[in-house]
Amino acid sequence: MPKLEVRKIGDDVLRQVAAPIRKVNEDIKTLIKDMYETMYAENGVGLAAPQVGVSKRLFVIDVGDGEPFALVNPELVKGWNEIEDNEGCLSVPGVYMPVKRFEKVRFKGRNEKDRAVTIEATGLLARALQHELDHLDGKMFVDLVEDKLTLDKELAEMRVRLAQEKAEATVSA
Ligand code: NI
Repeated sequence: MPKLEVRKIGDDVLRQVAAPIRKVNEDIKTLIKDMYETMYAENGVGLAAPQVGVSKRLFVIDVGDGEPFALVNPELVKGWNEIEDNEGCLSVPGVYMPVKRFEKVRFKGRNEKDRAVTIEATGLLARALQHELDHLDGKMFVDLVEDKLTLDKELAEMRVRLAQEKAEATVSA
């Protein structure tokens, strides 16, 4: 299974509203497998299809509780309480900033077998679900960060790091 390239902030695909998936066919199943592979290779707890350049409504999550799952056409049904916690994103590498999210959520969608599922979650899983759903609507966690001054500084440092990595990759290639 190939590891896919994770698109970084600034890439247009991350700002598009992703299209619903009509059926979980073999192509979608292959995409799900590749997304798991990519998420684990990058040490992420979640990955949305637009992050690998596919503008479809699908994400995978593994918050380390032993139950990785994919959710197709996910919808937030209900949210309870707001809490602030640090958040990061594979598309914004190395940047961690506090963001407000629901503490508890109920989601619905379809699983890898194309069956309707409902998920209730709290804690990190609740946060991951909301973060990944935002990706499907062209939104990113940085949009929700209130301290824009610190965010701008962090993003500037991230761009320097990415440019250095790219230069090093070119040299070693
Ligand atoms: Ni993300």
